Amino acid sequence: MKRTILITGGAGFIGSHVVRLFVKKYPDYLILNLDKLTYAGNLENLRDIEDRKNYRFIKGDILDTELLLRIFSEYQVSGVIHLAAESHVDRSLHNPDEFAVTNIIGTIRLLKAALTAWHNNFEGKLFYHISTDEVYGSAEEGFFTEETPLDPRSPYSASKASSDHFVRAFNNSYHMPTVISRCSNNYGPYQFPEKLIPLVINNIIHRKPLPVYGKGENIRDWLHVEDHAKAIDAVFHKAKPGSVYNIGGNNELKNIDLVKMLCRIMDKKLSRPEGESAKLITFVKDRPGHDLRYAINPSKIISETGWRPEIEFSQGLESTVDWYLTHAEWLAHVTSGEYLKYYEKMYANR
Ligand code: NAD
Ligand code: DAU
Repeated sequence: MKRTILITGGAGFIGSHVVRLFVKKYPDYLILNLDKLTYAGNLENLRDIEDRKNYRFIKGDILDTELLLRIFSEYQVSGVIHLAAESHVDRSLHNPDEFAVTNIIGTIRLLKAALTAWHNNFEGKLFYHISTDEVYGSAEEGFFTEETPLDPRSPYSASKASSDHFVRAFNNSYHMPTVISRCSNNYGPYQFPEKLIPLVINNIIHRKPLPVYGKGENIRDWLHVEDHAKAIDAVFHKAKPGSVYNIGGNNELKNIDLVKMLCRIMDKKLSRPEGESAKLITFVKDRPGHDLRYAINPSKIISETGWRPEIEFSQGLESTVDWYLTHAEWLAHVTSGEYLKYYEKMYANR
C-alpha cells in the first residue's frame, strides 16, 4: 500500500461517504476507519465496501491514547482525516460536557498521538480536521470567509471552535502539518434522522407532526454530502499545510421553505393528495440561541483546488427522499430503541 490514512468517525453520516470515496478511488491506500459506534455510528452505512482489501474497521474511542498509539505504529499512519464528533446542536444544549469531552479532549488526544508517532518527522504527513461553518456564529449579513472571526454560540459550535484552535496551536507550536475545513449543512443518504431533512422525511412517512422551530425563518446553506466528500478529497490532496478552507454550495434556504419542498416531494412519492403532508407542519418553541443564518463563501476552495459542487439541490433532495423511501429497514433500525426514547423526551416539552 502506498500510504495509510486514518479516518475517525467513518461510520457516521459524512464519515461513511468519505470512507467509501477514498476506499474506491484510492485502491493503493489503506483506509482505517476508527469509530466508537455511538448512537450516530452504524456499520450498515458501509456494507457495500466492508470486504474491500484496502479497508479496515477498528471499533474504538479517540480518547483512548493507548489504542491510538498502537494504530499509528502498527499501520504507519501518514494521514488523519478527523470527523469523529458529537454533531447535533440540540443534544449539545442538554449535554455540553459530553461535547467538550469528545470534540475538544478527543481532538487533543488524537493530535498528541499523531505528534508522538510522527516524532517531528512531518514529511508526507497531514492532520486534516473537519470543522463546521457554525464556528463563525450567525451571518446576519454577507458571507463567512476563512478570515471571519470565530464567534461560536452553541455548546456544539463552542466545542468545535475550541478543537479548531487546538489544531492551529499544534501547527503553530509543533509545526505539525494541519488543515481545517469548515462546511455548511450537509444532506443526503445515511444522515441520522434527528437532523432536519431526514427527520421531516421520516415523520411524513409516519404521519407525525413536523416540528419547525420558531417561525421557520432561520436560513441554512445546504450541500449534498457526496459533494462534501469530494471537497474533503480535494483539500486532503491539494491544500497548503496550515490553511483553512470553507466548503459550501451557495444554496441558502429558509427552513420553512425547505420543509414545504419536502412535503410536496413526499406527497408525490407517496401518492398522497397534494397538501396532505403540509398539514403536519407544527411550529414549536424555538431552539435556544438559534443562529439565524449560515452562508458560506466557497471561493477559496474553488480557486485553489478546482473543486465545485456538482449536485443541484432539487435533484439532490429528490434522490435523498428516494433513498430514505427505499431504505425503510435502515430507518426503522436507527430510530428504534434509545433514539425513540430520546426523541419522545426531546419533543415532549416543545
Ligand atoms: P455523525 O454524528 O453522523 O457521526 C459522528 C461519528 O463519530 C459517529 O460514527 C460516531 O460513532 C463517531 N464518534 C463519536 N464519538 C466518538 C469517539 N469518542 N471516538 C470515535 N468515534 C466517535 O456526524 P456527521 O454529521 O457525519 O459529522 C461528521 C463531522 O463533520 C463532525 O466533526 C461534524 O462536526 C462535522 N460537520 C458536520 C456537518 C453536517 O451537516 N452534518 C457539517 C459540517 C461539519
Ligand atoms: O452548519 C453545519 C452544521 O449543520 C453541522 O456542523 C452540524 O453538525 C449539523 O447538525 C447542522 O447543524 P444545524 O443545527 O443547522 O442542523 P439541524 O438539522 O439540526 O437543523 C437545521 C435547521 O432546522 C436549524 O435552523 C434548526 C431547524 N430545525 C431542526 C430540527 C431538528 C427545526 O426547525 N426542527 C427540527 O426538528
